[in-house]
Amino acid sequence: MQAYSSLFTILNQAIDQQQVSLGKAKPQEMYEPMSYILGLGGKRVRPLLTLVGCDLFDANPKEAIHAALAVELFHNFSLIHDDILDNAPLRRGNTTVHEKWNHNIALLSGDGMMVKAFEVLAKSNKVHVPQLLNLFSKTGLEVCEGQQYDMNFETQDNVSVENYIHMITYKTAVLLGCSLQMGAICAGASEHSQQHLYEFGKHVGIAFQILDDVLDVYANDEKFGKQVGGDIISNKKTFMLLDAFELANEAQTKELNNLLFSKEISNSEKVKQVTALYNTLGVKELAIEEANKHTDIALKHLEELEANTAKKNSLKEFALHLLNREV
Ligand code: IPE
Ligand code: IPE
Ligand code: MG
Ligand code: MG
Ligand code: MG
Repeated sequence: MQAYSSLFTILNQAIDQQQVSLGKAKPQEMYEPMSYILGLGGKRVRPLLTLVGCDLFDANPKEAIHAALAVELFHNFSLIHDDILDNAPLRRGNTTVHEKWNHNIALLSGDGMMVKAFEVLAKSNKVHVPQLLNLFSKTGLEVCEGQQYDMNFETQDNVSVENYIHMITYKTAVLLGCSLQMGAICAGASEHSQQHLYEFGKHVGIAFQILDDVLDVYANDEKFGKQVGGDIISNKKTFMLLDAFELANEAQTKELNNLLFSKEISNSEKVKQVTALYNTLGVKELAIEEANKHTDIALKHLEELEANTAKKNSLKEFALHLLNREV
């Protein structure tokens, strides 16, 4: 997006520098995967939001650069470990860390990256460090809690939509809220604005994860950069699967249970048949509707902020663009 091109330049420079220094650190076995995953890029949405959150209140976005780096390091750590949890072969169009190296390396390298995130964050203006650390550590723990619920739900059969929304709020949405709020903290924004910005990010994050779950089934393989159908293979309780159970007639419920629990069926056949059921039941459209509800809630929070209207509009446009992504 044009409005954010100079923020992206600042951000990419800082991340590239971090990547180079991690690539040189020793023991190489632990640091090289950190440099590898950072170098695969990704959208870098979260750290951009941190800079945007600072710029929104007319402070120099460079004030938030350490917080932005911390967020991207934390996010990449969570992806390395998430790919172990999800048994995923592909990340950003490339081999996942645990498959390229091994599980032990992925664990340690992920651990190190998470600690690095805190180390970098602590380099922020010391006036803001206590509040930043408070928010960041609270959020980090919530992400782990969300990931645990995600794991629990794979084998739990009474998961409600409410449980699902709670799980994705924690594993994904709070980090988007935190990213924005950390930017606002660095800008010295009012508590009122910080809270609305956090809620804006959180609801964008909920919509983002619902749509990520849709893309996991319906995306174009190459653009998505992840294994299509991975959520179906591991029986993830997504909005679509919960709705499918809700809407299925008796025969369809039996079929769905059989697809989920049969040991005979191949993964590719499972993905094909579950997707066919999703199509029959129209659950993709319902998931998109649910995501749209959260986008609307997010935009209401954005309206409440005390900030420059043109800047608020740029953020609104960016969020809508993000939620329209094909990948
Ligand atoms: C992936 O996040 C993890 C989810 C919360 C769905 P992104 O889709 O932002 O991943 P990258 O950083 O752009 O690769
Ligand atoms: C990711 O959820 C949440 C975190 C990484 C904390 P997913 O498991 O859906 O993310 P992807 O699809 O692998 O990127
Ligand atoms: Mg995953
Ligand atoms: Mg996961
Ligand atoms: Mg996913």
